[in-house]
Amino acid sequence: MSSLTYRSAPELSPFEGKRSLDSDAIARLEAADRTHLWKPFTQMAGYVEETPIVMREGRGNWLLDVRGRAFLDGVSSLWVNLHGHAHPTIMGRIAQQLQTLDHSTLLGPTNVAAVELAEQLIGLAPTGKLTRVFYSDSGSTSVEIAVKMAYQYFAQHRDEAERGRDTFVCLSNAYHGDTIGSVSVGGIDLFHSLYEPLLFHTVKATAPDPFHTAFGQDVAAHEAECLDQMRTLFESRPGHIAALVMEPLMQGAGGMIRHTADYLRSAAAIAREHGALVILDEVATGFGRSGTMFACEPTGVEPDLLCMAKGITGGVLPLAATLASEQIYEGFLGDHSEYRTFFHGHSYTGNPLACAAALGSLQVFEEERTLERLQVRIAQLGDRLSVLAEHPHVGDIRRLGVMTGIELVKNKRTGEPFDPTLLAGRRVVEAALEHGVLIRPLGDVVVLMPPLSITEDELDLLTGVVGRCIDDVTRKLR
Ligand SMILES: Cc1ncc(COP(=O)(O)O)c(C=O)c1O
Repeated sequence: MSSLTYRSAPELSPFEGKRSLDSDAIARLEAADRTHLWKPFTQMAGYVEETPIVMREGRGNWLLDVRGRAFLDGVSSLWVNLHGHAHPTIMGRIAQQLQTLDHSTLLGPTNVAAVELAEQLIGLAPTGKLTRVFYSDSGSTSVEIAVKMAYQYFAQHRDEAERGRDTFVCLSNAYHGDTIGSVSVGGIDLFHSLYEPLLFHTVKATAPDPFHTAFGQDVAAHEAECLDQMRTLFESRPGHIAALVMEPLMQGAGGMIRHTADYLRSAAAIAREHGALVILDEVATGFGRSGTMFACEPTGVEPDLLCMAKGITGGVLPLAATLASEQIYEGFLGDHSEYRTFFHGHSYTGNPLACAAALGSLQVFEEERTLERLQVRIAQLGDRLSVLAEHPHVGDIRRLGVMTGIELVKNKRTGEPFDPTLLAGRRVVEAALEHGVLIRPLGDVVVLMPPLSITEDELDLLTGVVGRCIDDVTRKLR
């Protein structure tokens, strides 16, 4: 493989002259972290044996830890950051909001920032069909809400014949979050199977996954098979499916598994033919990550419910929104005595600070022409990845916009994976840290999720370090 050239992290980092905290302060923080924190998706028995990386500052596309080490944020702080850390426009909007209103409930009154943001989100939505915004706090809750809305919409449908729609078709390998409702529509056995007794019943359609389940076969034929199976699931449950729930174009946490726009269009069409709603989860793909504002936009698929979170605030504060069509909204209208209300809400629903951050992020999109400028970066990423694709242990590279999964394999010709206990993906990620690049694996898929604001030099660093670490690590695994 011809290697990619890059300037090193210390050359590019904006933290020049920033030093380590004093050693007592570091020791105290590390000890308290080990003693008191329980971290997400982390085997703590191993974690407490290691030295934690304690971040203390963020600037641009970089993070600085207490030891004075700078890391390029190649995972966008878990797929949320869009415009870099501490973007002055977003910080300014939050600071301004702090001067006026910190928080006020949306149960009863409303607030200026929540109203202004709702108006803008509706303006940005990929279809004019979406007219209502319901706020919450995370991607999981945005999906939970969509599912509850669809369920209740049919449960109280004015046409009695529609009231039997009480279940959902969702995809194998899907990830929609970690609350019980979002897990119920998920499909990753490793994360979800233990909770089976707690989950509500859903119908799982097999998602396209050409690399793992149809290696070397024609993608269109594989997708057609998946669609036939989905059609059968709908046909065998007439009048019972409330909605199809799916991540459009890319199943992210499931391993960056792609399907085509044709598959998405056909799946949505099958749902519609059978009277079901379409719920699209754009928590990961939304807000430019796919190359357009929303991934479904260029496909022409118009969801009835659209879930958004992660990048909504530019990755600064927790906020989520479920956008609903007027048709669904109207299904909840009626006299108090009819009890058609959507009985759902959270203490921080519509938090003004988070909404101000989101307004700031949308302002950046406009002022910096983020989406337009991103196209160049996406093309550059494609170039660099085509070099990585030549590596003898890179089996597949799957990408949507800047969302990228690089799958490591033992045998490129057959697609045979590495023994999972070798932790090939994890080793690459650990090696990348040594070069000042922060990324995370999904098994043996090395995920690149750069902020939309990544520069060309930083992109070279990200892809160059990843290529070098894949080479170093896989050479030892041979
Ligand atoms: C597609 C999708 N939906 C939902 C979620 C859950 O979001 P959160 O972690 O904010 O609850 C994620 C998180 O990765 C996601 O990728």
